[in-house]
Amino acid sequence: MHPQQLTADVVVVGAGPAGLNAARHLAAAGRDVVVLEARDRVGGRTWTDERDGVTLEIGGQWVSPDQTELLGLLDELGMTTYPRHRDGENVHIGADGVRRTYRGDTFPVPDSTAKEIARLTELVDDLVAAVGATEPWAHPRARELDTISFEDWLRRQSDDEEACTTVALFIAGAMLTKPAHAFSTLQAVLMAASAGSFTNLTDECFILDRRVVGGMQSVSQRLAADLGDRVHLATPVRTIRHGEDGVVVESERVTVRARRVVVAVPPPLFSRIGYDPPLPRRQHQMHQHLSMGLVIKVHATYPTPFWRREGLSGTCFGTSTLVQEVYDNTIHGDDRGTLVAFVADEKADAVFALPEDERRARILASVAQFLGEQALDPLAYYESDWGSEEWTRGAYAASFDLGGLARYGADQRTPVGPIHWACSDLAAEGYQHVDGALRSGRAAAADVEAALT
Ligand code: FDA
Repeated sequence: MHPQQLTADVVVVGAGPAGLNAARHLAAAGRDVVVLEARDRVGGRTWTDERDGVTLEIGGQWVSPDQTELLGLLDELGMTTYPRHRDGENVHIGADGVRRTYRGDTFPVPDSTAKEIARLTELVDDLVAAVGATEPWAHPRARELDTISFEDWLRRQSDDEEACTTVALFIAGAMLTKPAHAFSTLQAVLMAASAGSFTNLTDECFILDRRVVGGMQSVSQRLAADLGDRVHLATPVRTIRHGEDGVVVESERVTVRARRVVVAVPPPLFSRIGYDPPLPRRQHQMHQHLSMGLVIKVHATYPTPFWRREGLSGTCFGTSTLVQEVYDNTIHGDDRGTLVAFVADEKADAVFALPEDERRARILASVAQFLGEQALDPLAYYESDWGSEEWTRGAYAASFDLGGLARYGADQRTPVGPIHWACSDLAAEGYQHVDGALRSGRAAAADVEAALT
């Protein structure tokens, strides 16, 4: 079969929130846009789907109050949000393995550890305020902070092991989903700065504030519906030929000749596309220093939200447990109760090595440590596996290895001739989040527009 031949002003590769927002802005500016998406659906790492009769957010779902790009778009699309259930007592299992309930922001740890967590939080907040999210690589201490792992940096600040483990987990397991020895302090500072402060990032009432009625994927579905037949699904882009005249973007089904292309895929997948001529040395090198984290997002649905009857919020946090976080993830308008639990990085490797039944039993046993035996027997159970997805290859997102952010960060969004780059994983505010994806798509569209006029 010969591929369909199309012409356009701009081709967008990837119909996640970044690519679709780029296309939306370009179409609004009067540009003829074509979007090519590898999967048979839009939304990328946002995916709202039914499993065993329960609608689940398999990918991105939460919105925080500072995510004004996303909140603005939701308003514009007439979409609404609802708050995460958080009434009641939270549960914490610390280094001693003992289960304790608590209210408020301070974990029930020994006083000296609580003080140390507060002091470390202040130190990270100070760094975040000094470095910022926009150009962390430009700070005078960028190289120094980028060549020490977050784990080492924390140990140099404090000899309270539990305080270090707790502060590390907020960024390691909970955000970058890599062990704290695998990313730099500068990368940790960017993650926190992208949410306004480290304090914001550690405040689950802030960072996991609200959800979208109808699901987060529906944002992308609405954007795609407005673009109509300009969006081509099941069309993985294989090659981008580029030169002074523009680009020819090739897939098995469609070939598009255009003046510019926006590549809006996760950065580790940039190099899965062939470029003719090859990308410059800088991009070849840089793209090898960006890798995806790994987390299993687990959903378990029960006949009722049983934990609420016991005065529990469903919010749980553990530093020594297999499951590091649990939240009430009950679907809007559903009488059943749904919990979401997370297993990250090396712990995810370990349970992925087990047979499916054993993995499920281990994960549910870990949730039951927090919320009691009723957690062992859900009506429906589902584990996300983004690491096996050809068009994503990990979760939640990509980050640089040690030294990579200071070395390459300034060039990560720099166009190569007519090729522009967009993704949540290249964003400043909203980095690794849907909000950052939308910002990055809008910025790429503005760059393309400037280049075309
Ligand atoms: P995204 O990866 O979403 O889209 C890229 C698109 O490119 C995909 O559709 C892919 O199929 C396509 N593609 C790849 N290669 C291609 C090729 N060669 N040709 C054509 N198409 C190609 N965020 C948040 O704000 N709140 C949250 O609660 C969470 N939680 C969360 C949980 C989990 C489990 C995950 C995996 C992710 C999150 N996130 C999140 C992150 C959020 O989902 C993510 O930041 C955005 O979806 C990124 O949007 P992008 O458009 O940048 O990439």
